[in-house]
Amino acid sequence: MKSSSTEIDFSALHLSEEPEIKVTPPGPRSTELLDKQEELESSAVSYPRSTPLAIDEAKGGAIRDVDGNVYLDFFGGAGVLNVGQLNPVVMDSVEEQLTKLVHALDFPTEVRLELAEKLLDIAPGELQDGKVFFTAPTGSDAVEAALKLATYNTGRDSILAFQGSYHGMTQGALSVSSGSQFFADYQPTLPRAHFAPYPYPYRCPFDSNSAHECGEKTLEYVRRMIEDPHSGMALPAAIIVEPVQGEGGSIVPPANFLPGLREIADEHDIPLIFDEIQASNGRCGEMFSSELTGTVPDIATIAKGFGGIGFPMGAMLYREELDNWESGAHIGTFRGHQVAMAAGLASLEFMENNEINKHVKGLGRTMLSMLKEEESEMQYVGESRGEGLMVGIEFVKDKETKEPYPEMARRVQKLAYKKGVIFELGGHYSNVIRCLAPLTLTEKMVRVGTGLLIEAIKEAESEG
Ligand SMILES: Cc1ncc(COP(=O)(O)O)c(C=O)c1O
Repeated sequence: MKSSSTEIDFSALHLSEEPEIKVTPPGPRSTELLDKQEELESSAVSYPRSTPLAIDEAKGGAIRDVDGNVYLDFFGGAGVLNVGQLNPVVMDSVEEQLTKLVHALDFPTEVRLELAEKLLDIAPGELQDGKVFFTAPTGSDAVEAALKLATYNTGRDSILAFQGSYHGMTQGALSVSSGSQFFADYQPTLPRAHFAPYPYPYRCPFDSNSAHECGEKTLEYVRRMIEDPHSGMALPAAIIVEPVQGEGGSIVPPANFLPGLREIADEHDIPLIFDEIQASNGRCGEMFSSELTGTVPDIATIAKGFGGIGFPMGAMLYREELDNWESGAHIGTFRGHQVAMAAGLASLEFMENNEINKHVKGLGRTMLSMLKEEESEMQYVGESRGEGLMVGIEFVKDKETKEPYPEMARRVQKLAYKKGVIFELGGHYSNVIRCLAPLTLTEKMVRVGTGLLIEAIKEAESEG
């Protein structure tokens, strides 16, 4: 497998380091394709509704639409394109693999085993002595597999999840996801999920004077759910949690939360699942975001950025003592996409060889400090926060009452897009602008994109 061991010039990885808007988007050709899509495809199509563009090509962290407009991509394909579109180092491996073997179910191949070894090598703590399981390509299936593995091993049936969580769209993953917009019309989901509050320092669900206290009180609550025989929940088969909450609004929990959760899980022999699907692969400046607090789960799920440059691939890592499944206990046709595996392996090597974690921490600091500098002047920005390039800006109508202002977030998203920078929208109240940019952005791209975002916020605020 080819791999570069020298640092490369990140600026060469991108179509452009700045946006270029030639026609007001959506331009005529984009409009044509968007209309055609509406005619042909399901009403459930989602992203083009908030960001109406038709993509022609992309490289690194820049996208060209079919009208020739160039955008900076601070959305990163929903946190997938961690090493950027068409990363040339990864493309070398992809091209080599494409001419050799594509589909191989779960038969051993060199690339598959090299990837499994690499994953164990970079896994947190004792997971390095654990097992790798390649699931079907989506994150949702990795979550399904993790829930099933914990259920099988414990023989219990309830699951403890957290408010603000998003774990996927399949029935099991949906059941432990908290957003009512996703589950309300599809009841019953699995009846065994119970939700505890997530320690969300900006909106702590408990009376608290600090993030630390918020973490402590949340842990007390979780402990009560597990230990009080009248909590309404039997001892759970698993606790599933995002170590940094993604769709919930880029929420970094207090540093005492995950270690405390680990303690509770250990005391009661409950497998602890960290859903790392969005927050791993360097996104938060660590290969696994749980490394921010040095906490090791029993099971970790990964997908999204794991496939390198957008190839779908999911997996879970788990402790060896949980490895009690019969052969074929969780199956799926597409669990051995060799090109995705080659891309994933090359991407991990690229990140290692180019010290991506250090790079990401620097970019995250630049973005947050630019936002924080302006925060007090901004009437509707309640908080900007994040770790690495998982950054969120939460909009409120009033900084005292913290009443959510989703309309403002939407307006900012639209204005930023018109200026040539693309963001996601998320949060408990859909009031958080989210950055999930490729980790290979240059300092210049972060400064330009964040500058345009700040301009968009000021413009949106001036409209009231
Ligand atoms: C934390 C987390 N888990 C699971 C998923 C589901 O992944 P997929 O969309 O690949 O099924 C997502 C997707 O956003 C996610 O952010």
